Amino acid sequence: MSDTPFCQCPVVPGPPRLVRGNTERERMPTVVVEQAADVAILLADRISATIARCVFEKGRCVLGLASGRTPIGIYRELVRRHVTGDLDFSRVATFNLDEYYPIDPANRRSYRYYMEENLFRHVNIDPSNAHMPDGSVHRDDVDGLCAAYEEMIRAAGGIDFQILGIGRTGHIGFNEPGSTPGSRTRLITLDAITRCDAASDFPDEVSVPAEAITMGIATILEAREIALIATGEHKADIVRRAIEEEPTAEVTASFLQGHAGTTAWLDRAAAGRLTRLRLADEGPG
Ligand code: GLP
Repeated sequence: MSDTPFCQCPVVPGPPRLVRGNTERERMPTVVVEQAADVAILLADRISATIARCVFEKGRCVLGLASGRTPIGIYRELVRRHVTGDLDFSRVATFNLDEYYPIDPANRRSYRYYMEENLFRHVNIDPSNAHMPDGSVHRDDVDGLCAAYEEMIRAAGGIDFQILGIGRTGHIGFNEPGSTPGSRTRLITLDAITRCDAASDFPDEVSVPAEAITMGIATILEAREIALIATGEHKADIVRRAIEEEPTAEVTASFLQGHAGTTAWLDRAAAGRLTRLRLADEGPG
């Protein structure tokens, strides 16, 4: 997270340019575009269309949201559309994937703070509809909070569209390696790589909370549509494992291969190790 509420990346004018190629090794539908800004536009389009369709069909829409750097461009574009009068959040409910534990929601390093700064306070969502795990509850109350979070998602009718980033450990939410496909919202110990990656948001690595509350893999897989989003070269290795290798608890994003409504959305850099890009680099001969 940065101190500035929005990513300063320019929004690319014109339609996103697709990167095509041999997709035989890809075990889930995958869209590759040139730049991160293209990914932001495409996802903002999907989310806007989902909100419009769900509100028309059932009077409300439930979004599953992620934090981290990856979705910032998407939130920026959603805010822009709201400001221009093209996107209404009054019938939208949201459930965030995860939150550090322990952490005060008012702490500027919390995911609650991140969501307020990057989306919630800029749009007309009813604050009582913007749900996040509360990282400040007493440890004795964490299990109850997790069960209540699952129940709230169910009571809202389930998640219509879930945004997911991917960590360098292959995690979705904070489902670190070893998390099973049946896992539910729970407290989890963060992987050393994850804490190292989060260190730039905190004074130092030891200040990064050792634990987090995260939706489980089973919780995520119940969403009707899922977008796995990755941008940047530093994600290329783990993206290839998630998309082209057999599903494994070592890379929990790979469990998305079993969900028919999942699409991976990548920029060229994050897709760089996929066979479709490697074959293209080798040329036709
Ligand atoms: C954190 C979050 C994940 C997120 C991941 C990637 O670990 N809990 O939900 O997907 O970071 O973050 P970034 O988008 O900054 O690479």
